[in-house]
Amino acid sequence: MYNCVEIQKNIYWVGINDKRLELFENLWPLEHGVSYNSYLICDEKVALIDTVAEGNYEYYLKKIQSIIKDRKIDYLIVNHMEPDHSGVIPTLVRNFPDIKIVVNNKTLDILKNFYQLEDNLHLVKEGDELVLGNYKLKFYPIPMVHWPESMVTYEETTKTLFSNDAFGSFGSLDGGIFDDQLHLVFFEEEMRRYYSNIVGKYGVPVQNALKKLSSLEIKCICPSHGPIWRTNPQKVISLYNKWSLCESDKGVVIVYGSMYGNTAKMAETIGQSLVKHGIEDVKIYDSSKTHLSYILRDIWKYRGLIIGSCAYNNGMFPPIENLTTKLLQLGVKNRLLALFGNYSWNGGGVSNLEKFAEKSGMELVGQSVEVKSSPKEEDLEKLRELGKLMADKLKS
Ligand SMILES: Cc1cc2nc3c(=O)[nH]c(=O)nc-3n(C[C@H](O)[C@H](O)[C@H](O)COP(=O)(O)O)c2cc1C
Ligand SMILES: [Fe+2]
Ligand SMILES: [Fe+2]
Repeated sequence: MYNCVEIQKNIYWVGINDKRLELFENLWPLEHGVSYNSYLICDEKVALIDTVAEGNYEYYLKKIQSIIKDRKIDYLIVNHMEPDHSGVIPTLVRNFPDIKIVVNNKTLDILKNFYQLEDNLHLVKEGDELVLGNYKLKFYPIPMVHWPESMVTYEETTKTLFSNDAFGSFGSLDGGIFDDQLHLVFFEEEMRRYYSNIVGKYGVPVQNALKKLSSLEIKCICPSHGPIWRTNPQKVISLYNKWSLCESDKGVVIVYGSMYGNTAKMAETIGQSLVKHGIEDVKIYDSSKTHLSYILRDIWKYRGLIIGSCAYNNGMFPPIENLTTKLLQLGVKNRLLALFGNYSWNGGGVSNLEKFAEKSGMELVGQSVEVKSSPKEEDLEKLRELGKLMADKLKS
């Protein structure tokens, strides 16, 4: 076996760890890499569940062949068409021309348009069964988690859910592949980052998927990125439930945009007041320094959100404008919001933050604090008061 891991009898992880890619979807930083998990079931029939991103084919094939030797792959289960899981399908099909590609009705068009593949398709709908021998696969579409054709595959004998992107995390699998072999604090953060960055907009579809899957007994979750959850799969299911309902913890993210550091000083004043008034978890981010990916991750965790911006060409500072646009797209709810900012001529930062606040539907705490150029003692007092108001709201 060439760097594969047997996860159950005759069921193997044949995934790839990618530590080179800088940006996932050419957008989200991968400081600690990412894994493309693919699974191989070697029964009377051989089935491959999802593939890997383009560029990894040689290594991937070597892994597969070290298990199947000269057998063929009978079925390729396509749970999701995003190229991080479908990129090598055309090459695989050239190498295994008889392979049957298992798809749902929403996959057809996407498969054809990406790879011009229309033959040897095996169409399944919700609840359909595919018997491999000892193992039996059942298919459940979970539309818009996070693409229209997204689907999960359930193996009945072992009660294993191959969940594709659902329950996936950033971060490569460094030696261990199971939850009990890895640092869970790190992976819970990376899972929430993945959720907020990629899946966050689709809270309602996630809720629908969780309802659909609630009738299944699930002993192990095998996602397409990050750890396999075999010790306590219910834990990640409850995290998905929490995140998709936009439920949050007591804590505050302060994020600001500042050129000369005055708005940054204001952020620090609010942060000190929050801690003084009993909030233990306070994260302060400079939007120019920390990638949006990490800021969203923490906004998904904490109930308090305080945004500050200096004025910039009658508007918000560009990274803050970007953040607010993203928050509206994602539809983040159930947050307590407070605003502050800074200007020298006619403003534009705070006034536009207030427009954002109205569109967001978030509950505004206190009056915005806007200062001219640099905060004076009376401004600092207003900022401390704003921090106290937020702390009191969070504690009540
Ligand atoms: C490119 C640029 C555009 C600016 N646009 C505005 C503006 O539209 N309205 C305004 O009142 N101040 C504007 N300013 C001034 C800053 O917002 C102001 O000096 C503020 O105090 C800077 O806060 P900071 O110290 O947190 O960077 C601009 C400054 C720069 C460099
Ligand atoms: Fe995806
Ligand atoms: Fe993915």
